[in-house]
Amino acid sequence: MATIESVLHETRLFAPNDSFVSQANLLNEEACQALCREAEKDYLGFWGKLAQEHIQWHKPFTRVLDESNYPCFKWFDDGELNVSFNCLDRNLEANSDKIAIIFEADDGKVTRATYRDLHLQVCQFANGLRSLNIKKGDRLIIYMPMSIEAVVAMQACARIGAIHSVVFGGFSAKSLHERIVDTAAVAVITADEQRRGGKGIALKPVVDKAIEMGGGDSIKSVVIYKRTGQNIQWHNSRDVWWHDLVIDKSDYCEPEWVNAEHPLFILYTSGSTGKPKGIQHSSAGYLLGTMVSMKWIFDYKPTDIFWCTADVGWITGHSYVAYGPLAMGATQIVFEGVPTYPDAGRFWKIIQDHKITTFYTAPTAIRSLIKLGSELPREYDLSSLRLLGSVGEPINPEAWMWYYNVVGQSRCPIVDTWWQTETGCHMIAPVPGVRPLKPGSCTFPLPGIMAAIVDEAGHEVENGKGGLLVIKRPFPSLARTIWGNPERFRKTYFPDDLGGKYYLSGDSANCDLDGYFWIMGRIDDVLNISGHRLGTMEIESALVANHLVAEAAVVGKPHEIKGEVIVAFVVLKDACPQGEDAKKIAAELRNWVSKEIGPIAKPEEIRFGDNLPKTRSGKIMRRLLRAIARGEQITQDVSTLENPAILEQLKQSMA
Ligand code: PRX
Repeated sequence: MATIESVLHETRLFAPNDSFVSQANLLNEEACQALCREAEKDYLGFWGKLAQEHIQWHKPFTRVLDESNYPCFKWFDDGELNVSFNCLDRNLEANSDKIAIIFEADDGKVTRATYRDLHLQVCQFANGLRSLNIKKGDRLIIYMPMSIEAVVAMQACARIGAIHSVVFGGFSAKSLHERIVDTAAVAVITADEQRRGGKGIALKPVVDKAIEMGGGDSIKSVVIYKRTGQNIQWHNSRDVWWHDLVIDKSDYCEPEWVNAEHPLFILYTSGSTGKPKGIQHSSAGYLLGTMVSMKWIFDYKPTDIFWCTADVGWITGHSYVAYGPLAMGATQIVFEGVPTYPDAGRFWKIIQDHKITTFYTAPTAIRSLIKLGSELPREYDLSSLRLLGSVGEPINPEAWMWYYNVVGQSRCPIVDTWWQTETGCHMIAPVPGVRPLKPGSCTFPLPGIMAAIVDEAGHEVENGKGGLLVIKRPFPSLARTIWGNPERFRKTYFPDDLGGKYYLSGDSANCDLDGYFWIMGRIDDVLNISGHRLGTMEIESALVANHLVAEAAVVGKPHEIKGEVIVAFVVLKDACPQGEDAKKIAAELRNWVSKEIGPIAKPEEIRFGDNLPKTRSGKIMRRLLRAIARGEQITQDVSTLENPAILEQLKQSMA
């Protein structure tokens, strides 16, 4: 196959500062390299040792990895543990009075829960679930607002060995219904309403609608957390208030000791096409991944105040809200609201008020905060920050620079963490304080993660050339299957073309001459311009590097001679331009890209909009843009879009 060409060359380099280096968990390049060598030399010994060090086992394991039924591999599979015990009980001795969660509600009200409080709440709720006859292996849907209770619900499932599937609170009854049916769930845990941006958004009515769509008969109970007290319809046969369920329950719940491979949760990921996949994770391997990444990548310290802004409806909210921080005994923020309410300074105010040390968010949030008020962060005291993180999409170098200079005040390393719902935890990310950072690069694989870039026949490509990003060996935190569809799991992630052994991420990437990894976009989005295969990321980054541009997405449109031409959708920092203005700016941007990257990447067409179509987790939906660019009907499901109205505007727009 032709490799994918890399056209953007970033030369800025940011060495870690001395004060960070002197306190880093993985102190230096040597320590980091030693771990990588250890993993190379004795892969199983490496992971086995980490699993012994990090997890408190009820029954120790004797086998590290069973690969006999590839890709249905098993890690530590004769060991027994309980994930909730590992997150809560073991923190009781030393940390019982330590704050586990600082909850900040949409209206600013703050509630704190210590590890003792959280343990008590989880035990009582877990006992409540048992009283509803919910048992090990049963599936439960959690459809909750960001809250201490959402974390309690997840932990309580883990405590009794039930398998949760969290559905993001902004998803429709249809999405919820699909997940109820696919998991044959026995219960839904929800709230009457959630509060976001000063408004109440109903949850319980959506649950009722989903159950009543047919096929939802497996649901025997709906547990409702009273968040706002809004009137709801009551179904005697299945509804129970959370507060009634826990009222007479014992404050201790014996954990269900489960096998290391027991499914901890199922989380649906939509991918770009097809039916959502129920990604199923294990207990021990997953927990281990979240813990080592907290330590190595977030450089976790007991004095940290950690804030991951992701909703628990996404994998990031599972690994770095509900499990990883608790397993490490951390203090973390759980935030109910949105970055723009009551004003665009909300994130910065939270950082200031709670003295956040570690702030982890998504490029989409960073780009919109740049657009909303580049000067705003300077009005707040952000001096408590010591580490910044990014996840979910490639962070364009210019957004990286803003994050670094304005938010981190040129003091905080940025960990650009590449990973996926399927991988469970960070895969490629800088160990902060070790190597210099390059804006826009997620740098190097974690010790023990054998990432590589290959062509379509599975051969590794030379540095500097782009290709398919794969991971060559299974690792503990990798998903075990697609719920109910192991064959789809094998075909999607371990395709025969690559020999059936490599985990195929679905992303394109390149490794530069210094060995730094750069994510180039999804393989499905690769453009083919006059025989040159180009990833989306680099062209978009070139556009975002222009001082007028806030966000950009590029797609291909068929062209008789060139194969494809590039159509760019652009959001400016200022208002969406019209008429002659739009034409002038479009011409300027076309020339800009041509100068920055080369004439090959010059967009044929530029369209302006107030925003881009995004998923609820903030990813740009390029397949919809592709349909618009080609003048095709949009036949795909757009119900999971954050902002469906934007499609009409983009259809009309043309510079
Ligand atoms: O394309 C990559 C992008 O997000 C995809 C995974 O999405 P999801 O399963 O929703 O998980 C998101 C949270 C881990 C990847 O295949 N992606 C994620 N992080 C990065 C990224 N692309 C570039 N750089 C990243 N840091």
